[in-house]
Amino acid sequence: MNPKPSLVILTGAGISAESGIKTFRSGDGLWENHRVEDVATPEGFIRNPGMVQRFYNERRRQLSEVSPNAAHYALVELERAWPGSFLLVTQNVDDLHDRAGTHSLLHMHGELKKVRCLSCNVAIPWEKDVLQDSPCPTCNKKGKLRPHIVWFGEVPFGMDEIAYALQNCDYFAAIGTSGHVYPAAGFVQWVGKNCRTYEINLEPSIVNSAFSESIQGIATQTVPTWVKEILSKNKQ
Ligand code: OAD
Repeated sequence: MNPKPSLVILTGAGISAESGIKTFRSGDGLWENHRVEDVATPEGFIRNPGMVQRFYNERRRQLSEVSPNAAHYALVELERAWPGSFLLVTQNVDDLHDRAGTHSLLHMHGELKKVRCLSCNVAIPWEKDVLQDSPCPTCNKKGKLRPHIVWFGEVPFGMDEIAYALQNCDYFAAIGTSGHVYPAAGFVQWVGKNCRTYEINLEPSIVNSAFSESIQGIATQTVPTWVKEILSKNKQ
């Protein structure tokens, strides 16, 4: 057994569901009562920037009403005790992994608590609402800020780092993700042939058959139990 095993975790909306953040695919095809094409595409933003900014302002404000749950904290404990390299890749744009205390964290779909300037292209931490004429704190141009979110048709962040970590990991776990959105849904195919793969989700995802192990249930119960188990097999 590798004394310094490498571990990559992928999380999706399911891990934040019990904190009170709605998942994306709850059956009606809408995200918080909006069509995905209207609020999660570059074309939607060009058509109606005011509405898109208001939508993300609301999502950003909602973060102050929610807190990390037992699954987020279990992954902090896992990182702390893990004997080898650790990377948590999240598709979530909330800040619950950050607030729980995960260090090695990559937000592949962006972050609600950042905006990006369309003029100078700098991403800036942002807590408050974005208004139509908010100036960029870096270049001072007005009306150029957009949500720092990866919309459909855009390339996710950190893909080189993610590909390298996946190709070299001994363990890969996907938690709370439905397997509908690529490239994340295909990560289980990027790992080497000796990698042990786990899917931890409320129900089998559409890519479930690609995993060597499947654990079903709510994240606040399944994740802490799985963390204990994998740590007991990989002591420092
Ligand atoms: P989805 O909403 O597609 O899937 C969430 C998954 O979590 C589903 O399979 C649920 O069964 C599961 N789930 C729900 N509650 C759970 C719980 N308490 N414990 C464990 N699992 C639970 O969300 P994602 O797969 O994350 O992209 O969606 C991927 C991407 O699609 C998002 O990052 C977003 C969206 O378009 C962007 O915003 C760019």
